[in-house]
Amino acid sequence: MLLQLQNISKTYQDGSSSVQAVDGVSMQLDAGEFVAVQGPSGCGKSTLLLTAGGLLKPTSGTVTIDGQDPYSMTADERANFRARTIGFVFQQFHLVPYLSVYENILAPGMAVKTKANPERAQQLIERFGLTDRQHHVPAKLSSGERQRVAMARSLLNEPELILADEPTGNLDHENAEILLQFLAEFASEGGGVLLVTHDDRAVSHAQKAIHILDGKLTSPATAMNPV
Ligand SMILES: Nc1ncnc2c1ncn2[C@@H]1O[C@H](COP(=O)(O)OP(=O)(O)OP(=O)(O)O)[C@@H](O)[C@H]1O
Ligand SMILES: [Mg+2]
Repeated sequence: MLLQLQNISKTYQDGSSSVQAVDGVSMQLDAGEFVAVQGPSGCGKSTLLLTAGGLLKPTSGTVTIDGQDPYSMTADERANFRARTIGFVFQQFHLVPYLSVYENILAPGMAVKTKANPERAQQLIERFGLTDRQHHVPAKLSSGERQRVAMARSLLNEPELILADEPTGNLDHENAEILLQFLAEFASEGGGVLLVTHDDRAVSHAQKAIHILDGKLTSPATAMNPV
C-alpha cells in the first residue's frame, strides 16, 4: 500500500475559535490507483491533501506513505522524503516566477542531490511539449503551459505518488483533458494518484471517486477500502 490515512482529523485553532476541517478520515491508496475525492468548497479537501502529503500535521490520526510516517521524521528528513516520494500539482501552479521553465522543472532535483538530473528535465520538457518555451519565465506562458511545467516538475524525481489539488481549476477544456490523461497514465504505469476537486470532469478520469462533506468521507465503504 502506498498511502494510508488512519482516522485523520485536523482542527485549525484561531485564537478562541476553532474549525474542524477534517474529521476522522480513513482511506488507503495502492500503487496503480487513481482516486478522486470530491466535495464542495470548504469541506476540507485541501486540508486532507496537505496532511496526506506530509505538509500539514494532523491534529490526530496517522499518515503512512510507503510504510513510513512523515510526521515522525525531522523537518529536514520529511522534506527530503517528500521530494523523493511525492509530486504535487496545485490549482495555482506554484511555479517560481524568476526561474525559467527549465529551472522550475529541475528545482526539485536540488532538494534531492543524488537525483538532480538535467537530462531527465530535458526529457520532460520534450514530453510535455515545452521545448520552445523552456527559457521563458512562467509569466510569459499560458495557463495550460504553466500547468504542464508543474506536471513535468512533479515527475522530476520519479515520485511514487502524485497529489493534485484542483489541478484543472485554471485550465480550459483541452488543457484539463491533457492534465487528466497524464494523471491516468501515471497511475496506469504503477504510480498512485490522489486528486481532490469539485470538478465532475476531473472525477470521471479516476478509477474511484469518493465524496467528502464537512470533513467526513461519505461514500459507501466499498468505494475506498476504508481501513
Ligand atoms: N489555515 C487555516 N486556518 C483556519 N481555518 C482554515 C485554514 N485553512 C482552511 N481553514 C478552514 O478549514 C475548512 C476547510 O478548508 P479547505 O481549504 O481544506 O477546504 P477545501 O475543500 O479545499 O475548499 P476549496 O474547494 O474552496 O478549496 C474551511 O472552513 C476553511 O475556512
Ligand atoms: Mg481547497
